[in-house]
Amino acid sequence: MSGGLILGIESSCDETAAAVVERGARTLSSVVASQIAMHARYGGVVPELASREHLRAIVPVVRAALSEAGVGLEDLDAIAVTSGPGLAGALLVGITYAKALAFARGLPVIAVNHLEGHIHAVLLEERQKAAGEGSEMQVLRLPSVAQDDKVEGEEAALALVVSGGHTHLYLAEPGPGTWRYRLVGRTLDDAAGEAYDKVAKLLGLGYPGGPWIDAMARFGDPRAVPFAFAQIKNKAHLQGKAPRTKAARTAPIADLDAHFLFSFSGIKTAVLRHVELNGMRAGVEERIGKVLAGAGTPRTREEALELAPQAVLDLIASFQHAVVGDLMKKTFAAAESLDVARILVTGGVAANHELRERFSAEAARRRVRVSFPTLALSTDNAAMIAAAAWPRFAAGEFASSDLSADPSLALGR
Ligand code: KG4
Ligand code: ZN
Repeated sequence: MSGGLILGIESSCDETAAAVVERGARTLSSVVASQIAMHARYGGVVPELASREHLRAIVPVVRAALSEAGVGLEDLDAIAVTSGPGLAGALLVGITYAKALAFARGLPVIAVNHLEGHIHAVLLEERQKAAGEGSEMQVLRLPSVAQDDKVEGEEAALALVVSGGHTHLYLAEPGPGTWRYRLVGRTLDDAAGEAYDKVAKLLGLGYPGGPWIDAMARFGDPRAVPFAFAQIKNKAHLQGKAPRTKAARTAPIADLDAHFLFSFSGIKTAVLRHVELNGMRAGVEERIGKVLAGAGTPRTREEALELAPQAVLDLIASFQHAVVGDLMKKTFAAAESLDVARILVTGGVAANHELRERFSAEAARRRVRVSFPTLALSTDNAAMIAAAAWPRFAAGEFASSDLSADPSLALGR
């Protein structure tokens, strides 16, 4: 009987990652080589540099994942790789390497959608948690994935994938066989993480902006600037129009319930206008220059104040409060309308402290379950790719030898 060991490889954006996961439920290793420091100099990911860095990192990262897991290529049952969505050149590095390794070892390749990966980051950790309960000596209860059997204990969930490239709501339903996904809502323009990054950039903060804003927001007054999100009502003009985002191809927006559509480009402009009207920019830039180098994110009010005056901290707190509020309102409304009692929030922005606190409080109030990945699995990693591949492995869904990158790969219907 096979050990169910899958090597996952992820290279869709600015992290080169590899991991070994057993039967979608036990992480033996997870290695991530981040390029963030390099791209930070340019204030965003530079695709050509990303591909070059992936080429440099892929071999050592995969080697490290195998060695940390204490396994050799001969112990593997399959190689899973992200095939999209993402940067074409970056994706190709992982795909080409996965195919070469698989060919050399006679292993099947499993193509995984990056967004499905983010959803499985939460599912993987929930299974690990469940297996770890009880006595330390307890044998791991790994889920048996039979073709005609859904994993015991798995229930349908509403998944909010919220990252630098996506703000998508999916209804995720377990087997029989592989999971099924239905797009329920999405952003019409910027992703929430993109708004964080752009607002941080215009305030002169570091890249990526999410962790900066997260750390500074707690020292500001979230009600100081009343940002508002208008309800997207009239979709008629969107009929047949492609969304203005870099994100994945999806079902026509006109087919989605307008209550579950997001838009984050307006708030970025509102922040910019506020900064200009109140002459905040100069004040911030003066301070940032001296503190930014090597300062990391602030931990105390004094450090935060050294970076930005109180009015800027208030602006940051108000921005975050509005974004989290909007994500929350639409996600809980969708869960209620679909009658699901389980919510997963995943992707880089799911690392946000205020988001976790407010989603958890609202879930408790409504008696629904909400789960987030640990911070390590919130941002891009390969354990989530290997975990998402497990049901596909069990169902015999292997990629053909002409697998290539699909930068705008859609998830589900
Ligand atoms: O999932 P991820 O690593 O990569 C993408 O697939 O995009 O997400 C990166 C995004 C960035 O926009 C970053 O600013 C945001 O996640 N992010 C955060 C936090 N940590 C990362 N946003 C808000 N709060 C955070 N703590
Ligand atoms: Zn991601």
